[in-house]
Amino acid sequence: MLDDKKVMMSGMQSTGMITLGNYLGALKNWVDLNDDENLKCFYGIMDLHSITVRQDPAELRKSARNLLMLYIAAGLDPEKNCIFFQSHVSAHPELSWILNCFTYMGEMSRMTQFKDKSAKHADNINTGLFTYPVLMAADILLYQADYVPVGKDQMQHLEITRDIANRFNNIYGDVFTIPEAYVGKAGAKIMSLQEPTKKMSKSDENPNASIFLLDDKDTIMRKFKKAVTDSDGFIAYSDDKPGIKNLIDIYRAVTGKTVDEALKEFDGMGYGKLKEVVGETVANELAPLQARFKELSADKAYIDGVMKNNAAQASYYANKTLRKVKKKVGFIELPR
Ligand code: TYM
Repeated sequence: MLDDKKVMMSGMQSTGMITLGNYLGALKNWVDLNDDENLKCFYGIMDLHSITVRQDPAELRKSARNLLMLYIAAGLDPEKNCIFFQSHVSAHPELSWILNCFTYMGEMSRMTQFKDKSAKHADNINTGLFTYPVLMAADILLYQADYVPVGKDQMQHLEITRDIANRFNNIYGDVFTIPEAYVGKAGAKIMSLQEPTKKMSKSDENPNASIFLLDDKDTIMRKFKKAVTDSDGFIAYSDDKPGIKNLIDIYRAVTGKTVDEALKEFDGMGYGKLKEVVGETVANELAPLQARFKELSADKAYIDGVMKNNAAQASYYANKTLRKVKKKVGFIELPR
């Protein structure tokens, strides 16, 4: 709780362009919570997390700025939500160091994201990649988050955050709120359009596997047209038909309809028509966001202002927790 409100905290890595998976699994859910007066929401642009994989500095700056504009373009109001860059709030790496000392090697080596990323980047298995979940735990715990709205792929990281927080609290008393996952109405796991048993990911080498948020309508329609389905020729919502299931999930996540409602609409449709309908629905959903993004791109002063105000606000709350932690651990406060 902060100021008598429940706290939401979440974020995204600031590399490349975010996908429809990021949007439906996370961002759209955050926007849905915009007007809830009983919530205090913090959303980070997680640039510190991004450098666990080697980045081009100019590209990283561009993607991070774009991500802030995408958050706002999607409908997150920076007056109502605290939207900040992780690297602007030094309490994140500070708490992360402290929590590293309360986390075990065995726990970190079981993380699937570490296993996946170290297999993908075998030439750069750095310790940042290994301790990545501890920084994520710091992100969440600094704001005393009650809920963390994320897609299913982040559940393991949330579990370890809870474990670390409980371990710390057991030693020092109730310092951290124990956060819970919040899975919104939209798509908890959107799959690749080319390999529908794999999650849609921005780092997929096949450009047809993912819809990127700034893809134009032609590109979106083309990618859906190429989406991998099956040879059955009928529409059903089943794990045995991952390609069709994914298209229905995308449609449901955008429209808010149930599986039954969607199936009724698609009754008797061929796969070609289904892909067209889903493609149109996605393109229509993203069009206003893309227009707003274009406007924001031309307003540097506004974006700079958002950055400044929100970094100060995030630092205020984060430092409150950090001071408490430092005191509990036994560090001497700098005399005033
Ligand atoms: P990241 O940047 O990989 O993803 C951001 C959010 O998008 C969700 N997501 C998906 N949801 C549904 N289907 C998909 N295909 C899909 N792909 C991604 C993710 O679940 C996530 O909610 N470690 C985090 C970033 C992070 C964070 C945090 C999140 C850093 N600190 C603190 C919450 C709280 C990550 O890499 O997410």
